[in-house]
Amino acid sequence: MINNLWRRSRGHPRIVDAAVSAALFACSFPGSMITFPGGDLDVPWWPGVLLAGVSCAALLWRRNCPRTTVVLATVCAMAMAALGYILTVVLLGPLMVALHSLAAHTNRRTANTFTFTGIALLLGTALTVGPGNEPLVLKLLGPAAWLLLPTSLGTATRLRTEHAERAREKEARHRVTEERMRIARDLHDVVAHHLVLANIQAGAVARLIRDRPDEAEKIATVLAGTTYTAVRELKTTVGLLRHADDVETPQEPAPGLARLTDLTASFRSAGLAVTVTTEGERQPLSPGADVTAYRIVQEALTNVTKHATGGSAEVRLTYSEDRLDIAVTNGGSPARSSSPVPAGGYGLIGMRERAHAAGGRLRAGHRPQGGFEVVIELPLHPHSGPHEEIVPT
Ligand SMILES: Nc1ncnc2c1ncn2[C@@H]1O[C@H](COP(=O)(O)OP(=O)(O)OP(=O)(O)O)[C@@H](O)[C@H]1O
Ligand SMILES: [Mg+2]
Repeated sequence: MINNLWRRSRGHPRIVDAAVSAALFACSFPGSMITFPGGDLDVPWWPGVLLAGVSCAALLWRRNCPRTTVVLATVCAMAMAALGYILTVVLLGPLMVALHSLAAHTNRRTANTFTFTGIALLLGTALTVGPGNEPLVLKLLGPAAWLLLPTSLGTATRLRTEHAERAREKEARHRVTEERMRIARDLHDVVAHHLVLANIQAGAVARLIRDRPDEAEKIATVLAGTTYTAVRELKTTVGLLRHADDVETPQEPAPGLARLTDLTASFRSAGLAVTVTTEGERQPLSPGADVTAYRIVQEALTNVTKHATGGSAEVRLTYSEDRLDIAVTNGGSPARSSSPVPAGGYGLIGMRERAHAAGGRLRAGHRPQGGFEVVIELPLHPHSGPHEEIVPT
């Protein structure tokens, strides 16, 4: 309930300020009547209440003018000390609140300067003008301690707020970077796949056009289809990025393993013979795992078309109870088996990031017996963690 009240009050700072000022003003009545037993001054209560009223009214501007508010409250407290009032926490309340605001909204140096100057002025006034028979503890130590407390608390509040703000900024930067990476991966996978196919098909057309014009014509038709699909998928990806927050916009379903047959057919048209084998009982995948599996197979086969010489590849899907293992392999000469995978491309990086985002693992490299393999282990149902599963495109 207190938490609830605190949360609500943060939305109405003016009302909170008015309530605090009114409460402190009410406290000044008993505060102005507390006298030191055996004191030699008979101080009436009303000047204390009047001075407290001035500093309580000043508190209404403590958020916009924290320095002026502290100065006003200090002057009022000095006047009280000079008149002979005992500076208890009740009378020092307005100055304490003003110092807390100052420490919470300015820097440490300003807060310390105003606090220590205020303490010095108050103690000086109490020593020189105030009643002589008041014990030093009441006159000096009490006020000093009461004024140091809000400054420390205000500084702690400011540090906590700054820390929370830095953490929020860091989180926002992290989200922007993640989003940028996601866009980069999506564009890479969509564009690279179709352009590589189109490039191979255009090369075949150029090679065959003189000797086998009929075949060249057929490949040219497929090429037109490839470029058309590229443009459509690119448009869909850009549309998804533009309307990521717009749930009303109808979206083309993200690709998944259900479209594996179309995918392998597109590679076949570019001269790559792809065989798909499935082991274990086929299981439904979460949307995130499904699109991850599709994109990784797509990029792995694109790489085979680009970098391998064999002209064939195998996609092996192995389902177990809670995991799907996918291996995309192609043959090749064993001479390159020990060489490391050259860096510089974005395909393998993207595959690895996609696998990690879906809670899986990816391994890629030259095979000892020759050729290349990409192996990915994907949990079928990633644990629902603190982050929502983001379904990539
Ligand atoms: N099937 C493969 N056969 C032989 N080498 C491969 C195969 N797949 C990947 N590689 C090697 O791994 C490197 C990294 O692949 P990656 O997909 O990251 O980059 P890329 O295909 O060169 O460029 P990009 O994908 O950014 O267009 C390739 O340059 C290639 O040398
Ligand atoms: Mg690649």
